[in-house]
Amino acid sequence: MAQSVIELVHVNRRFVTPDGKSLTALRDFTMTVERGQFVAIVGPTGCGKSTTLNLITGLAPASSGQVLVMGKPVSGIDPRIGFVFQADALFPWKSVLGNVMAGPVFRGQSKADAKA
Ligand SMILES: Nc1ncnc2c1ncn2[C@@H]1O[C@H](COP(=O)(O)OP(=O)(O)OP(=O)(O)O)[C@@H](O)[C@H]1O
Ligand SMILES: [Mg+2]
Repeated sequence: MAQSVIELVHVNRRFVTPDGKSLTALRDFTMTVERGQFVAIVGPTGCGKSTTLNLITGLAPASSGQVLVMGKPVSGIDPRIGFVFQADALFPWKSVLGNVMAGPVFRGQSKADAKA
């Protein structure tokens, strides 16, 4: 069988709220995305959509369970994955070009190459 591109297996993700309580955003969540599939995650506000994407992109770790991309556990930010944030994530003190260049520069490209 072909390997799934994205796999979440019995994933839990808990947060500590500002008042110190434990909040379970994802509970025993399992899903797979196969190669070439186009998937939309739909649900009411607060149901855990962004949390799920953050786990897949490596922006946040699961509290328990497994998150796999291309068959390997996610262990940090994966530069192969593109992610458009729900809220804009721009540097307001930089120009449009400076914002576009920021990604390549943070990944180690020279400013001249990023600008080109
Ligand atoms: N960093 C955090 N600290 C504490 N609670 C959080 C944190 N991030 C998310 N949560 C909580 O986890 C739950 C899921 O949030 P999430 O942002 O994943 O929802 P969502 O489905 O993307 O909602 P929306 O449709 O509003 O974007 C919510 O109850 C939210 O308040
Ligand atoms: Mg969201």
